[in-house]
Amino acid sequence: MILYINCCVREASRTDRLARRVLELLGGEVKELRLYEEDLRPLDRGTLKRRTALIEQGSYGDRMFEYAKQFAAADSIVIAAPYWDLSFPAPLKVYFENIYVTGIVSEYTEEGVPRGLCRAKRLIYVTTAGGPYDPTYSYGYVKSLAEDFFGIPEVSLVKAEMLDIVGNDAEEILRKAMDDVVLRTYRFYGWETATVKDKNGLTPRDYYDLLAGIWSADTCAPRMRHEWSPANITRGQCSITAFLIQDLYGGKVLGVPLKDGNYHCFNVVGNCVFDLTSEQFGDVKLDYTDCPEQSREVHFAKEEKRQRYELLKEKLRESIAEKLSLS
Ligand SMILES: Cc1cc2nc3c(=O)[nH]c(=O)nc-3n(C[C@H](O)[C@H](O)[C@H](O)COP(=O)(O)O)c2cc1C
Repeated sequence: MILYINCCVREASRTDRLARRVLELLGGEVKELRLYEEDLRPLDRGTLKRRTALIEQGSYGDRMFEYAKQFAAADSIVIAAPYWDLSFPAPLKVYFENIYVTGIVSEYTEEGVPRGLCRAKRLIYVTTAGGPYDPTYSYGYVKSLAEDFFGIPEVSLVKAEMLDIVGNDAEEILRKAMDDVVLRTYRFYGWETATVKDKNGLTPRDYYDLLAGIWSADTCAPRMRHEWSPANITRGQCSITAFLIQDLYGGKVLGVPLKDGNYHCFNVVGNCVFDLTSEQFGDVKLDYTDCPEQSREVHFAKEEKRQRYELLKEKLRESIAEKLSLS
């Protein structure tokens, strides 16, 4: 079930129209929650006291927890909220106050680290703005909550901005935004949990996006070069990619033994296991358990491979600099 959290109040809301385009592309059963029509109130002293007592008892049967349970059970979540005063309308904040229930959407590990309990694999935040859109206090806030506390791995933004600028054709901008909606999905192994961040604040999914524009026949292993194509971008890129990712996150590079005697390299960072170049195997499922560690010394003993690694490293360095300068 897709949960559509609609925080739009204006008649013929532009944000709602854009969100409906997203819902259309997502497909599937939609449960709409119109926040302006729900009986949602800010947590006042009495409610907070009652709620805290119930949570401490682990007693989640009360009606007040229904919104949180609904949020935690959704398969996908779409939030539509116009850009108001650098943020979003107040009912959305009230909604978050009500659904952020420890034990339902999130819990704490013994070390005190929050761990998400939500089922949704993706959350899409949809907004429109009269002027230029700054995501800091709206999308930025929702993304942090979703990724770091609710455990939703893929959070993305769909927006249309500059709609109220004199001289701009708002309908045209909105139509273009609707046409441009692309719902990003990742197919590499472990993408759902690849949320670890490096010193640049980037996740392996961000690096997949960058590398997708860099991997080429030149960085592909020569014996597989005839199989590399823009439709098969990860072919022959595994070891140099995995060691490059290790440069950024640390951790280990492990190798899945292949029938031809070679190893397919992937990364393990803490308890995050991911394989940025797994797509080349199509529907074949690799076994990532009990794989031997791979060493740079062995792989880079081949000068040809070391040179491809240096080439990929240089190109990635440029892409990172460009991305960081734009963000
Ligand atoms: C109360 C209010 C506050 C707004 N604040 C901003 C703002 O801070 N920055 C901005 O660019 N636009 C702002 N706008 C303009 C809206 O973001 C813009 O018109 C948006 O497209 C409205 O979406 P809707 O049609 O879904 O209601 C504001 C509009 C309202 C009504």
